[in-house]
Amino acid sequence: MTRRAVVVGVGHYLPERIVPNSEFEETLDTSDEWIRARSGIERRHFAAEGETTSDMGAAAARNALKDAGLNAEDIDAVIVATSTADLTFPSAATMIQSELGMTSGFAFDVQAVCAGFAYALANANALILSDQAKRVLVIGAETFSRIMDWTDRSTCVLFGDGAGALVLEAQEGAGTSDDRGILSTDLNSDGRYKDLLYVDGGVSTQSTGYLRMQGNQVFRHAVEKLAATAEKALEKAGLTSDDVDWIVPHQANIRIIQGTAKKMGLPMEKVVVTVQDHGNTSAASIPLALSVGKERGQIKPGDLIVTEAIGGGLAWGAVVLRW
Ligand code: ACO
Repeated sequence: MTRRAVVVGVGHYLPERIVPNSEFEETLDTSDEWIRARSGIERRHFAAEGETTSDMGAAAARNALKDAGLNAEDIDAVIVATSTADLTFPSAATMIQSELGMTSGFAFDVQAVCAGFAYALANANALILSDQAKRVLVIGAETFSRIMDWTDRSTCVLFGDGAGALVLEAQEGAGTSDDRGILSTDLNSDGRYKDLLYVDGGVSTQSTGYLRMQGNQVFRHAVEKLAATAEKALEKAGLTSDDVDWIVPHQANIRIIQGTAKKMGLPMEKVVVTVQDHGNTSAASIPLALSVGKERGQIKPGDLIVTEAIGGGLAWGAVVLRW
């Protein structure tokens, strides 16, 4: 028998306020048409004043726990993927732990920007396989609206706020790729590209800063690196693209999503797409897409899923799992 980290619950939370592309036309030299054509984004949600990353993460976590039929005290560890935690410290994860009423177990944040959820899943998988935790709540939560330069049309129209969560549980499998749960992970980063996508502030520079991106340069790296990491993860699991039921990609840009699927030889019918409704929610985008994909009736038990993401760092990675 082989231990596996199996998804037993999924949930998400989106802030109430929906902002259509047309709203940016009032203050910027941009258009709904440009944003749709270049990114595939039609609308995004923005957090309300005072609504924080940990508030949204906790709401998503409650929905995932409900879906799993579990209570917060059943969880051993909480991992939050975020680049927009409420405070410099403590972590968003410990805040969510407290909001859920958990007084045992452990909690920590993972910061790998848009690739954060792949990194968090890989960490949760390692904790479960090494018997340090039996049930792990893995959350992606972001308030990127708080690091937007609202005068920069090349970035502020692309991002949104939200949160998604999975409950992973240790279960015994046969040790084959037919097992449910995480089958493989592949993580990468290359700090030589740090200037392509960054926030120009932080604690040691004594400012919050704004997101800066050379979008077309990131784009150049994205399709090639995403297809390569997805294929590497599939290979590690002893599988190929032909075995994939769903690609659940990081939702940054529809053209990157289409390009990656094409490079992997898969049709768009096998891709869960939410970018039109959420924009780029960074580390929240994959768990949001998994939750919405399940709600829509796309993702079903037993389906073979590959998730892939790239973001600031550059950092990128993929996870193969059977739902
Ligand atoms: N409205 C109108 N025109 C615009 C806008 C806008 N909102 N934004 C930029 N433009 C203009 C530019 O100024 C430029 O004009 P110019 O030719 O006169 O100089 C023109 O449009 C083309 O700009 P490009 O940047 O070359 O456009 P591109 O087709 O590359 O699309 C985009 C831009 C959507 C940002 C795309 O490059 C992209 O999606 N990049 C990747 C983003 C990504 O994946 N990020 C990673 C994850 S994010 C994270 O980790 C936090």
